[in-house]
Amino acid sequence: MKKTYDFLVIGTGAAGLSFALKVADKGRVAVLTKTRLQETNTCYAQGGIAAVTYQPDNIEKHVQDTLIAGDGLCKEEVVRMVVREAHGQIQALIDWGTRFDMEESGRFNLAREGGHSEHRILHHKDDTGSEIQRALSEKVSQHPNIDVYEYFFAIDIITQHHLGKEVKRRTKGIECYGAYALDIKQKNIVAFVSKVTMIATGGIGNLYSTTTNPVIATGDGIAMVYRAKGTVENMEFVQFHPTSLYNPNERPSFLITEAMRGHGGILKTQDGEEFMQKYDSRGSLAPRDIVARAIDNEMKIRGDDFVYLDCTHLDGDDLKAHFPNIYEKCLSLGIDFTRDRIPVVPAAHYVCGGIKVDTNGRTWINRLYAAGEASSTGLHGANRLASNSLLEAIVYADRAARDALQLQDTLTINPNIPEWNDSGAKHPEEMVLITQNYKEMQQIFSAYVGIVRSNLRLKRALDRLEIIYKETEDLYRKSTLSVPLCELRNLINVGYLVIKMAMRREESKGLHYNLDYPPENGMRLDMNGKKA
Ligand code: FAD
Ligand code: SIN
Repeated sequence: MKKTYDFLVIGTGAAGLSFALKVADKGRVAVLTKTRLQETNTCYAQGGIAAVTYQPDNIEKHVQDTLIAGDGLCKEEVVRMVVREAHGQIQALIDWGTRFDMEESGRFNLAREGGHSEHRILHHKDDTGSEIQRALSEKVSQHPNIDVYEYFFAIDIITQHHLGKEVKRRTKGIECYGAYALDIKQKNIVAFVSKVTMIATGGIGNLYSTTTNPVIATGDGIAMVYRAKGTVENMEFVQFHPTSLYNPNERPSFLITEAMRGHGGILKTQDGEEFMQKYDSRGSLAPRDIVARAIDNEMKIRGDDFVYLDCTHLDGDDLKAHFPNIYEKCLSLGIDFTRDRIPVVPAAHYVCGGIKVDTNGRTWINRLYAAGEASSTGLHGANRLASNSLLEAIVYADRAARDALQLQDTLTINPNIPEWNDSGAKHPEEMVLITQNYKEMQQIFSAYVGIVRSNLRLKRALDRLEIIYKETEDLYRKSTLSVPLCELRNLINVGYLVIKMAMRREESKGLHYNLDYPPENGMRLDMNGKKA
């Protein structure tokens, strides 16, 4: 079956939906999501969205905070561009119906998070993401030019390769004509053929056993582009959020927003010692890579499974008003954060790298754009500053939309796209073969490619992954397509990129800390995980 559109958007988070809304007045748009419209990383975002609004904050301070967090690897022109364009795109969110918390004076209520020198996080209580998702989902559902396809799983983008032509990696000659997607309910494969395609498929958190990301975050878009011979970069920079709620077996891990530390919460060991000052003069509000590594180190030295976030010295009513969802969640586990300390542990949270794009969101494949967490713009460098990702998603969706609107006038729909070829698929797969490999893969990444790495750990991870890779490719060739199998395959592809890029980076930088290359300045750990 074939469906034809001007624009194909894969992903219904902040990046995909804001792109769809910006192009929809000029063409027909298909928006695909592999589950429900609202099940996205966007929907789980708590802290908010960073932007300069009032003095004493200014553009230069936000730029410098982003560059410092990025540890020398941000593209400065991109940082300046995104910070400058923040205001206009946040206004677009507000125009689409997003509500941010306001003071009685009519000013935005601004929070502060790690690495930010000022209060500059616009937020809606402690559930900013679900508020943004609500507003965008409503607008998209009402737009007459947008068709939303829920439970459609994009398998691969369509390129010349599907027309029987050879394509070479990293040439400018590859073109994208849309994507093949599995209609999960009808169990058939649809070719979505488009003039322009946008990949907004989000992150890769499920590579790890412990993650704040919902189940959809399996790196599908990044893997699709890699297989299509596009360019992917900076995958070694996987961000661990320092404070997810310690509640073993809960998946995804519930986030305890950094804004609670911005509000005055303090990290302590289980025996009550404040430890962050030992690692960084900014204490509990140092950038995320430093805080996560410090917590990991304290847990290793002490043999503890978690540390505490202590908010008991703060005004309880004020805390409950700012963080009502976190209060309810903790209370459901018997923790009253106005009286009790919150047990927290780092969890995989965000990938800074991804599909390489230019400043208009164009990938290295013609007619193909990427935005949001799946993309690599150069904004985050080696470590993302808190609350800069929703900002990046909406700024790049806007830039890509403006570029794509111009481009689409010069393009036609390719009439020669073949149906999906599944002639090799015969046997329904045994689920245990997939689920067991999925668990093994997560264990490999958590043990060897986590917050602290070494050359030996990376080599061991690569060797183990190779086995799972071969088994999974074999299964893929023989089996009828299923979402779990495709997701496992995609995670193995992106996992391979994380390891290879980590091996290639012979230094410790930002989120990539390798014991074999201790940094010249900053935190050094010895081979036993002790602070040197
Ligand atoms: P997502 O919102 O993740 O959307 C991805 C979409 O792609 C989904 O619709 C999914 O179904 C679809 N998809 C994926 N693969 C396929 C496929 N094969 N076929 C079809 N559809 C597919 N950032 C901030 O800036 N501020 C915060 O306060 C903040 N808090 C966070 C809290 C949590 C718990 C988490 C997990 C993240 C947080 N982040 C925050 C990060 C931020 O939420 C994400 O980076 C951002 O929302 C990503 O948006 P996106 O549009 O790129 O992707
Ligand atoms: C948080 O609220 O701590 C998450 C913010 C982010 O990931 O940017």
